[in-house]
Amino acid sequence: MTMDDIMRAAPVIPVLVLEGDEDWAKLAETFVGAGLTVLEVTLRTPGALDAIRQMSKVPGAIVGAGTIVNERQLGEAVDAGARFIVSPGLTEPLARAVTRSGVAYLPGVATAGDIMRGLDLGLDRFKFFPAEASGGIAALRSLSGPFGGIRFCPTGGIRPDNAADWLALDSVLCVGGTWLYRRGDSMDAVAERARTAAALRN
Ligand code: 3PG
Repeated sequence: MTMDDIMRAAPVIPVLVLEGDEDWAKLAETFVGAGLTVLEVTLRTPGALDAIRQMSKVPGAIVGAGTIVNERQLGEAVDAGARFIVSPGLTEPLARAVTRSGVAYLPGVATAGDIMRGLDLGLDRFKFFPAEASGGIAALRSLSGPFGGIRFCPTGGIRPDNAADWLALDSVLCVGGTWLYRRGDSMDAVAERARTAAALRN
């Protein structure tokens, strides 16, 4: 799947910080059952790679790795089964390595210069990060003027009350956020939140 395919698969990508030793396959099943098929597991916790391994086996789940900042993490994530890679920013060495790996890539951008460097590297799908702190919807609208064909997944400060406004932008294919799961949540609570998010339009 291309990054464009993945971004169009669901309007919201849960950004998951997975702590402890839970049944991560069950969490992935809950999201998929509620209609959120694209899941980003951040490499911010010791069990993240194992969670990617577990979740990747769940039918219908498209599991990627987030917070990837170097080639070592890229290799580990790909070995664990990640089908896409998300980074908070964009560097040339990592972008070239992800492209060589053949896995879909969603690097973070916040400025016109970032986008131009991405274009030079053959990339045209980006995470707009940190979305709210970088100027919010007004900033992304401005950036979309000169970069008409570029599409974004805003992340950082997206919540249930502003997600629909972001998704209404032509340049936005999906949004990402951590609000969908917190340690200790019941699967019923996750399912309800995920169903509400899946009903948002993109
Ligand atoms: C992150 O990388 O933590 C995300 O971009 C999510 O930010 P959020 O907690 O504001 O959703």
